[in-house]
Amino acid sequence: MTDTTHTAKAPRLRSRAWFDNPDNVDMTALYLERYLNFGLSLAELRSGKPIIGIAQTGSDLSPCNRHHMVLAERMRDGIREAGGIALEFPVHPIQETGKRPTAALDRNLAYLGLVESLYGYPLDGVILTTGCDKTTPACLMAAATVNIPAIALSVGPMLNGWHKGERTGSGTIVWKARQMLATGEIDDAGFIRLVASSAPSTGYCNTMGTASTMNSLAEALGMMLPGSAVIPAPYRDRQEAAYLTGKRIVAMVHEDLKPSDILTRDAFHNAIVVNSAIGGSTNAPIHLAALARHMGVDLPLKDWETYGHKVPLLVNLQPAGEYLGEDYYRAGGVPAVVAQLMGAGLIHEDALTVNGQTIGDNCRDAMIEDLRVIRPFSEPIVEDAGFLVLSGNLFDAAIMKTSVIDAAFRARYLSNPDDPQAFEGPAVVFDGPEDYHARIDDPAVGITPETLLFMRGAGPIGYPGAAEVVNMRPPAYLITEGIAALPCIGDGRQSGTSGSPSILNASPEAAAMGGLALLRTGDRVRVDLGKGTVDVLIDADELAERRRALEAQGGYPYPPSQTPWQQIQRSMVGQLSSGAILEGAETFQRIAQTMG
Ligand code: FES
Ligand code: MG
Repeated sequence: MTDTTHTAKAPRLRSRAWFDNPDNVDMTALYLERYLNFGLSLAELRSGKPIIGIAQTGSDLSPCNRHHMVLAERMRDGIREAGGIALEFPVHPIQETGKRPTAALDRNLAYLGLVESLYGYPLDGVILTTGCDKTTPACLMAAATVNIPAIALSVGPMLNGWHKGERTGSGTIVWKARQMLATGEIDDAGFIRLVASSAPSTGYCNTMGTASTMNSLAEALGMMLPGSAVIPAPYRDRQEAAYLTGKRIVAMVHEDLKPSDILTRDAFHNAIVVNSAIGGSTNAPIHLAALARHMGVDLPLKDWETYGHKVPLLVNLQPAGEYLGEDYYRAGGVPAVVAQLMGAGLIHEDALTVNGQTIGDNCRDAMIEDLRVIRPFSEPIVEDAGFLVLSGNLFDAAIMKTSVIDAAFRARYLSNPDDPQAFEGPAVVFDGPEDYHARIDDPAVGITPETLLFMRGAGPIGYPGAAEVVNMRPPAYLITEGIAALPCIGDGRQSGTSGSPSILNASPEAAAMGGLALLRTGDRVRVDLGKGTVDVLIDADELAERRRALEAQGGYPYPPSQTPWQQIQRSMVGQLSSGAILEGAETFQRIAQTMG
């Protein structure tokens, strides 16, 4: 990490409009009196020192980020030492595995809340405390909208999980343990022991799930101090990163270095390339699309294929590989990966980062410290590790992470000598995760080794927020026969910790009357990865007739909202392919930028 000290250009601080406003003395007094009563002095508040928010995402409800409550002390130390004043405040809690019906529902809610805090209070800059999956995009999206100097601090991954001498990784072990439970290899107690072994300390998921992905990408985007994204939460280096982040944000305020200076189209393309090289989560395109739209940057979904698909996998982390977060950090973390990609000419080296230097300057000399965990560009783990963007008569856009296609899947589906990129089979359709769990093991459903499994009703409107349910295990009777995976396709998401090569994030979703709403169990579906298509083999007239019939019944049915926010979000949310943001909210980005 670089501790850069810059001299002040001293723009007028926005907090002075609250605390030092000669034109409106009575309001100044009102603002001052309440901030004075928790211990700040009049002299401090009127000193012209930058006031730095610590947007606190950690709480007892958000255990993945809870360590930020400890790290905040070191952030404060850094802020104070650099001549700033720290004000810590809560961000709406988001915990990936605990929030019902799904944590994705809350990304836009936390975003809205944080925008109001950043806009409406006397803050000159902010530290975004990131970690658990949606906390990172929610914080970055809000900083993009308000566009005040902002720096992200990752809470860091948990220590490696271990069971009987083998690494057990967050989430990834759950998918494996579920199969073992389904076939009777372990019992309930064994299931809990195995899963709990993957979470030995404070921090976020130690696999390359959405948390590791989004924090790595926040660094690749330039929004975190170089080298800081993947320091494990309990390591002493993490405390130092908190301190240096606190120091640096004060300098950023003096330099007026804002998200719009950093989050450029080049920065997003860097993040896409890094995502492929790290084996990043299928949730990344959703969150980066959302961030780009709030920043006013054009980032079509197809860019993921254009710039990302041909990039090889370099990081050997579960679920695509073997290792976990501690190994990733010790092997060199994000800078080592970026340096390899720079060597291949794949990085826009001039992209500016929060330390005031370019990503090229930050990463040029970064070395790989463990070749088992991070591979050189010339000897990758897998070629073409990015996403394919697929379309057809069932949806306009969906993605597939081809790096997790394993040998067994390839042999079963992608080995026809006449047509090695295509396969087809009869569909079995599930309407939401409850329907899937109720029927998957029922032989009467008729799932065979040829079946393609479909999940619908799981998108941002249908299952408000979009559920992580597209990776479906086959029925237990097929697993015992050695069929560990069937092709899965759906309008929901899947956990970044899943190694399933599903076709997912299909947009528009069934609840928005996308083509998946018209699919029936027994229809034949053809997937052609060479052409980038997924089609139900039914003629257009029949599909039009099904659409008319469904519309006459009031459209694709989905469950009623359980809370006011579910109702509000459903009325405004867009589709996964364009970030699932609150449509219209992105227009406020330019308004906020003009604010004094
Ligand atoms: Fe919070 Fe994985 S569940 S980081
Ligand atoms: Mg998740």
